[in-house]
Amino acid sequence: MREISIFSGGILAENLVGICRQTKTAAPWTGKDFQTEAGQKTSRIFILTDKKDNQKIPLAFCACRFVFESAEITNFAVSPLYQRKNFGTELFNHTLNFLRNQGVKEVTLEVSSANISAQKFYEKFKFTCVSVRKKFYNMGEDALLLKLNL
Ligand SMILES: CC(C)(COP(=O)(O)OP(=O)(O)OC[C@H]1O[C@@H](n2cnc3c(N)ncnc32)[C@H](O)[C@@H]1OP(=O)(O)O)[C@@H](O)C(=O)NCCC(=O)NCCS
Repeated sequence: MREISIFSGGILAENLVGICRQTKTAAPWTGKDFQTEAGQKTSRIFILTDKKDNQKIPLAFCACRFVFESAEITNFAVSPLYQRKNFGTELFNHTLNFLRNQGVKEVTLEVSSANISAQKFYEKFKFTCVSVRKKFYNMGEDALLLKLNL
């Protein structure tokens, strides 16, 4: 059974690190990064899990930070085996609804110019590119700053 919950620390952090490693284009957070982020009042990490043999298996996560009317998506990934099954959409909608309920009016995020699948994903949510940081990443790709008014 699938469900969305808030990651509040603990052993699932290693599964989330695994998702980052497998996808390669997610921010390469360590277990400590996930734990620290989960402990911040102005951050949330939502996880989409499946239950198998009474164990929760994370399939995807979406991390955000929010201050007053602004929020940032700080990391987001779906495990490669589960991509293109609408799970990203389900989790991202959940995150945006949470932010709306917090009074957030503007959401930003950063994506590499080489990450076409993520750009297509955000286009579907009507994000628009508001600025470009040239050669921001190690391999010389630009960073695109995307924005959505909620
Ligand atoms: C971006 C990501 C989270 C999307 O998650 P997902 O569950 O695969 O996405 P969905 O199945 O909900 O797809 C929704 C829409 O996004 C677009 N999309 C998603 N993956 C795509 C791909 N590989 N190629 C083209 N469009 C894609 C499509 O428009 C898709 O709608 P459609 O299937 O009806 O055509 C996922 O590809 C991922 O984890 N990528 C690696 C990590 C990453 O790059 N994170 C973002 C960092 S900024």
